[in-house]
Amino acid sequence: MRIDILAVIPELLDSPLNNSIIKRAQESKTAEIYVHNLRDYSDDEKYRRIDDYSYSAGAGMVLKVEPVFKAITHLKSQRTYDEIIYTSPDGEQFNQKSANQLSTLKNILILCGHYKGIDQRIRDHLITREISIGDYVLTGGELAAAVMTDSIVRLLPGGMGDETSALTDSFQDGLLAPPVYTRPAEFNGWKVPDVLLSGNDAAIEEWKMDQAFARTKKLRPDLLNDE
Ligand code: ADE
Repeated sequence: MRIDILAVIPELLDSPLNNSIIKRAQESKTAEIYVHNLRDYSDDEKYRRIDDYSYSAGAGMVLKVEPVFKAITHLKSQRTYDEIIYTSPDGEQFNQKSANQLSTLKNILILCGHYKGIDQRIRDHLITREISIGDYVLTGGELAAAVMTDSIVRLLPGGMGDETSALTDSFQDGLLAPPVYTRPAEFNGWKVPDVLLSGNDAAIEEWKMDQAFARTKKLRPDLLNDE
């Protein structure tokens, strides 16, 4: 899978994309991730400006239509994108289902929003999907793009060391994940539940399911009502 990210501050993506599983996924060519600087597409050679005042007074600075159009057109001339995503607090809410679905695509382009947003004409004519990572406002879309990319890439076949572990994530079956323990079996008088030391696989599976349900009911009852 290939992910192109158009950013105003590409440096914000350096660390999230160049460590751990996401780094390995790129090294093994499971994922190709390219971050592009929107300023490289500015017509303003001297100051590389890409924003301008809003026509609505007092609304703050807006990303200009020309550099974004130029950048997207350039990238689209090189390959076909399955989705051109704009990160914005007013987009559809990103969740595990969105990550699963996006991880099946071949090429996606993520445009990071900034300032008070982008010129609406870009959203109307070039963007195919608008995604928010939660009901709060970030300074820009780079961190949202990093969150989405991380959750998508770890799902790719070969993306994770333990191929089955994505299936046991929270949310993957509509439930939160059960608690996990490792050695020692007792620390400070705090004991690992007996069933996990029993060697009885069926009992352990049942315990995990019960725990997942109990946790979900207590912490996220809304998930049990979701279709
Ligand atoms: N840009 C600013 N806030 C955002 C959010 N919550 N999700 C996605 N992009 C954003």
